[in-house]
Amino acid sequence: AKVGVLISGRGSNMEALIRAAEAPDCPFEIALVVSNKPEAAGLDKARAAGVTALAIDGKPFGKDREAHEKAIDAALRAAGCEYVALAGYMRILTPWLVEAWAGRMINIHPSLLPKYPGLDTHGRALAAGDVEAGCTVHLVTSGVDEGPILGQARAPILPGDDEAALTARVLAEEHKLFAKCLADLVRG
Ligand code: GRF
Repeated sequence: AKVGVLISGRGSNMEALIRAAEAPDCPFEIALVVSNKPEAAGLDKARAAGVTALAIDGKPFGKDREAHEKAIDAALRAAGCEYVALAGYMRILTPWLVEAWAGRMINIHPSLLPKYPGLDTHGRALAAGDVEAGCTVHLVTSGVDEGPILGQARAPILPGDDEAALTARVLAEEHKLFAKCLADLVRG
């Protein structure tokens, strides 16, 4: 199945999906990467891996988020995508795009949802004195970070951890979990 990946930045989860798709038994291929930020480092990483990568900047569309999404949606469909993976895509979606891909769009979030939706998940977990963090892959619905959970992975919070250390530990789990959940979804 062809998958489009939406990014806004570094693109390490996108890279993990591209790598996973190289396995002969992987049921998905990454057909397109789209970033809403032209300067996203992930665009070059995708191209280096031989994947078509487009910047579709949100700025020219101003407040018309739906018009921006229609441009992205057209690119996804033109590339034959059947699924969409949000991999650090930092723009909140309108109900229009969510509906258009209902049941076929997934997101990765760096916390054990329903704990810590939104931003600064690791900072909040550290401030709360949690002993465990993790990540969640879920279907995208209109509530931010709220859709049905497809999978979670845990990572310990160790004494002396700062945000960088915890981010790295959770990110390693994200890279494994995202590909696994996407494969499971595609296989039905
Ligand atoms: C990841 O932590 C992901 O869970 C969150 O945004 C970050 C994106 O990182 N949604 P990357 O661009 O995949 O490296």
